[in-house]
Amino acid sequence: MNGPEVSSRDSSPSAEADGVVMRVEGIRKSFPGVVALNGVSFDLCAGEVHALCGENGAGESTLMKILAGSQAPDAGVLLFKGRPAVLSSPLEAKEKGILLIHQEISLVPELSVAENLFLGSLPLLSFGQVDRKTLLRRAQEVLESNDVGVSPNAIAGELSIAKRQMVEIARASAFQCEVVIFDEPTASLTETEAEALFETIQRLRHQGVAIAYISHKIKEIFRVSDRVTVLRDGEVRGTLRTRGTNEDEVTRLMIGRTRTAISIVRSDALGPRCCVLKTYPFPVSRGM
Ligand SMILES: Nc1ncnc2c1ncn2[C@@H]1O[C@H](COP(=O)(O)OP(=O)(O)OP(=O)(O)O)[C@@H](O)[C@H]1O
Ligand SMILES: [Mg+2]
Repeated sequence: MNGPEVSSRDSSPSAEADGVVMRVEGIRKSFPGVVALNGVSFDLCAGEVHALCGENGAGESTLMKILAGSQAPDAGVLLFKGRPAVLSSPLEAKEKGILLIHQEISLVPELSVAENLFLGSLPLLSFGQVDRKTLLRRAQEVLESNDVGVSPNAIAGELSIAKRQMVEIARASAFQCEVVIFDEPTASLTETEAEALFETIQRLRHQGVAIAYISHKIKEIFRVSDRVTVLRDGEVRGTLRTRGTNEDEVTRLMIGRTRTAISIVRSDALGPRCCVLKTYPFPVSRGM
């Protein structure tokens, strides 16, 4: 494995030792014919948004699935609050306070918002029936405190993607999650919805939640994150303080060079059948 191309400038784990909630070290994960992660180390601190970016297939989603217990690494160590942890399922991760919010929203579409919010811990009456009054009251409290303008009685499957995402995030705060992982959360959102999401992320951050944020959109990374780690071909190419870097540097780490545009320019001086190839460096921000 090659070492990172950029050192973790003033962002080494020791600099934030007190706030590190979750850390992986030397993670390896292969699928048939592809090494998805090759010796990856990455950490998440309380009250911080740590962005993870890379080109398609660089390994971000695989790393996040390992952090959220939906995939097991082939090798490496996972530490949760300083202790080695084995997360054998997303449920086990959720019980520890680690929640992955991915593009395919995991709410049960047929159930109400209230039922989705408290799925797995529904308040029950003494004879085993759901205590609907308590459920609705607690759901209303959670929705209000997270500014989700949705009725607890609404059916999840009838909400827009943005609203469903907000309900999922509200669920994270209902369960007092300590780690929330967002995998390309704005992919299906409008600009206004994305802005609302950024505000929610900032609120979680101020509550001390450790947030991982995967995005290909460089502008978004600079909008929401405190640190950014760049993956390329399953390896960490750098971990940087977002305020101390710029789009060009992150792009260069993502693609391994400054991307160039090539244009063909006719040069009359060279005659009608000769052309000159010109290259122009430009930053890449996929999807923006
Ligand atoms: N379940 C799987 N089976 C086989 N190969 C997989 C599996 N999951 C991921 N891969 C491969 O591992 C590599 C990393 O995939 P991963 O989804 O982590 O990348 P990514 O950076 O999140 O990609 P994208 O930008 O497309 O979301 C890719 O080559 C992918 O094809
Ligand atoms: Mg992905």
